[in-house]
Amino acid sequence: MSLLTRRAVMAASSGLFLARATAADGLESRRAAPAEPFAMGVASGDPSTDGFVLWTRLSAGGAPLDAPAAPVAYEVAEDEAFRRIVRRGRRAASPTLGHAVHVEIEGLRPGRTYWYRFHALGSVSPVGRTATTPERAGRARIAVSSCQHFELGWFAAYRDMVAAQPDLVVQLGDYIYENSYAQFPKVRTFDTPEPTDLDGYRRRHAIYKSDPDLREAHRLAPWVVTWDDHEVENDYADLANLKALDPVVFARRRAAAYQAYFEHLPVRPSLWTRPDGPRLYRRLAWGDLVSMPVLDGRQYRSVQACNPPGQSGNRPRRDCPDLAAADRTMLGAAQEAWLDETLRAEHGRWTLLAQQTVVAPIETPEGVMSDQWDGYAAARERLMRSLARPSVRNAVVLSGDIHAYIVNDLRKGGPDTPPVATELVTTCLAASHAPKARYGDVRARNADIRFADIERSGYTLIEATPQRLEVDLRIVADQADPGGAAASLARVLIEDQRPGAQIAASR
Ligand SMILES: [Fe+2]
Repeated sequence: MSLLTRRAVMAASSGLFLARATAADGLESRRAAPAEPFAMGVASGDPSTDGFVLWTRLSAGGAPLDAPAAPVAYEVAEDEAFRRIVRRGRRAASPTLGHAVHVEIEGLRPGRTYWYRFHALGSVSPVGRTATTPERAGRARIAVSSCQHFELGWFAAYRDMVAAQPDLVVQLGDYIYENSYAQFPKVRTFDTPEPTDLDGYRRRHAIYKSDPDLREAHRLAPWVVTWDDHEVENDYADLANLKALDPVVFARRRAAAYQAYFEHLPVRPSLWTRPDGPRLYRRLAWGDLVSMPVLDGRQYRSVQACNPPGQSGNRPRRDCPDLAAADRTMLGAAQEAWLDETLRAEHGRWTLLAQQTVVAPIETPEGVMSDQWDGYAAARERLMRSLARPSVRNAVVLSGDIHAYIVNDLRKGGPDTPPVATELVTTCLAASHAPKARYGDVRARNADIRFADIERSGYTLIEATPQRLEVDLRIVADQADPGGAAASLARVLIEDQRPGAQIAASR
């Protein structure tokens, strides 16, 4: 197709705005336009029965766009060829949000695949694929990822995930890393220092978007995201931070990191009403099959127990009475109350609680790790009480953060009480692994662990039906291999109304 014909087709298919834009300033803006304004890709997220949020960020081939606000047109179609366009409109991509665009689409039909694309600066974006959630569902395929260190591994696991065609991708945090680890071999480098301001965090997110496997995973499925610590700074807790910087100073850094996070992910702008303290916790659902409360375990938590005042940090702890102090919180009072109310009103078959750190007690040779729920034992008891509400038919906790696969039975009382929930800890997509001595023989020390592997990277694939969850713990053979093949490490079965995991097969 000639350029002229292609442009004519584009103009015809994208309506008045594009026709006017190409006629009035087509050649000029094309000449002045940057190469590859859509180099960061496209994404969709937080699907509902009638819509989703669409995302893109304009750039100059991945570099910040040096331009005033630019018009961006969007189109949503029922078919990949855009013959049946059901929504179109335009937004301004403004420099105050790094030329990011978020569009909340409403009023579509439930349980349907949609395709979308953007037009700006004389270019057309890649075509994204997304979906509305069904009103009733007999199955759902959900992929879970966590902890992706750009320098320490290729993101080949996402290629395997894309091939699995998940309905939904859930990212549990450490989407970016703010820090480098000199002690581990690198497969590529950030090329920018540790960010502390908006420009720095934008550059850090931008280099992540240079990864083609990550972009492709965003392009082909809707995502549900939450953050952990490395989106801002390792182990931060509310405004407590590693260097015990003045909270006012750290609050500025955190707000910059939060803003950059928003600018680069398909998060609904209606959540983003307070840039210095956005509310990220919310509930998603996949029909009557899956209910997914999504938590923010970083923004409101008490500082890790027995640390110096104002100083965050994850330590193995044993003789630290504060670990169990009743007034210490992981979620903050408002989120905790919201979660309990949400769980009281549960009606889905499976409650998949998407959150960050490990809920199960994990005893290591040096004690428990203070950054996990072990460091917030009273808050964990309250969480377990909420998960045990009769309205919750099947409680499954999705965790990340520790770069290991661990499958746990979760109990509300002592070891003789029946499990009330199952925990699936997803390993890192690509990052470093704890030295073996950190955990020792972790299964011998912790009777409720059904499966553990602390050496591999990958992601979790969950096939949900009304009868069971079939869970595939996927691994990549070598995260230093850009073409890294993936395989199954273990299969886990969780049956309806039978809390606790069964290890179906493991190699
Ligand atoms: Fe991590």
